[in-house]
Amino acid sequence: MNKTYCTDRLVLKQLDSNDAELVLDYYIRNKEFLKEWEAEREDDFYTLKSQKLQLEQDVESYKRGSSIKFWIFKKGDEENIIGCVSFQNILRSIMQSCILGYKLDFSETGKGYLGEALKKAVHVMFSEYYLHRIEAPVMPKNTSSINVLKRLGFVNEGITNKMMKVDGAWEDHIRWSLLNPAHE
Ligand SMILES: CC(C)(COP(=O)(O)OP(=O)(O)OC[C@H]1O[C@@H](n2cnc3c(N)ncnc32)[C@H](O)[C@@H]1OP(=O)(O)O)[C@@H](O)C(=O)NCCC(=O)NCCS
Repeated sequence: MNKTYCTDRLVLKQLDSNDAELVLDYYIRNKEFLKEWEAEREDDFYTLKSQKLQLEQDVESYKRGSSIKFWIFKKGDEENIIGCVSFQNILRSIMQSCILGYKLDFSETGKGYLGEALKKAVHVMFSEYYLHRIEAPVMPKNTSSINVLKRLGFVNEGITNKMMKVDGAWEDHIRWSLLNPAHE
């Protein structure tokens, strides 16, 4: 826990409940931007209490080996979160797989930050956590997200009907995947 990774322009960090204010600030700033792409949020999601609890759950989930979440900062400004990359539902045994999620701050899109962070995070998941497969479900209309995945070599494995409830509605998702090159 608390291992930090750097890229040319970014710092990737795991956070804990002491960082709840930073996370709350990120979600409040991006409430409208994220609405179309994420789970419907109750009003109490936008409170310090709720974000502290979520970060505590993230730490527990990391300790159990179930998930890892990297928050993204620009180098030289570790007081403002600009995004997040998460690897959820980590399955070991004969799967060694996980589900990928990510998001940016609306004002930091179009600069290549997510691609830069994701490239590093994927490398970490393959080389340090020895995952075999990373799956990214994306709604067909989310072209920005699809472009990010294509640039990193993710492959389209087809559509899953009504896979996730996004902004209150069950939505079809394309399943994109990337395999650990060391396992080929
Ligand atoms: C999905 C999301 C992260 C994509 O953001 P993004 O800014 O397009 O992705 P990146 O940060 O990798 O930036 C890539 C863009 O920056 C451009 N760019 C500018 N400067 C660049 C640089 N120095 N290096 C690389 N790319 C650069 C690229 O050309 C590309 O633009 P294009 O797609 O129009 O060709 C963002 O739209 C988002 O947070 N959406 C809401 C949440 C969401 O949908 N999450 C995913 C659910 S599946």
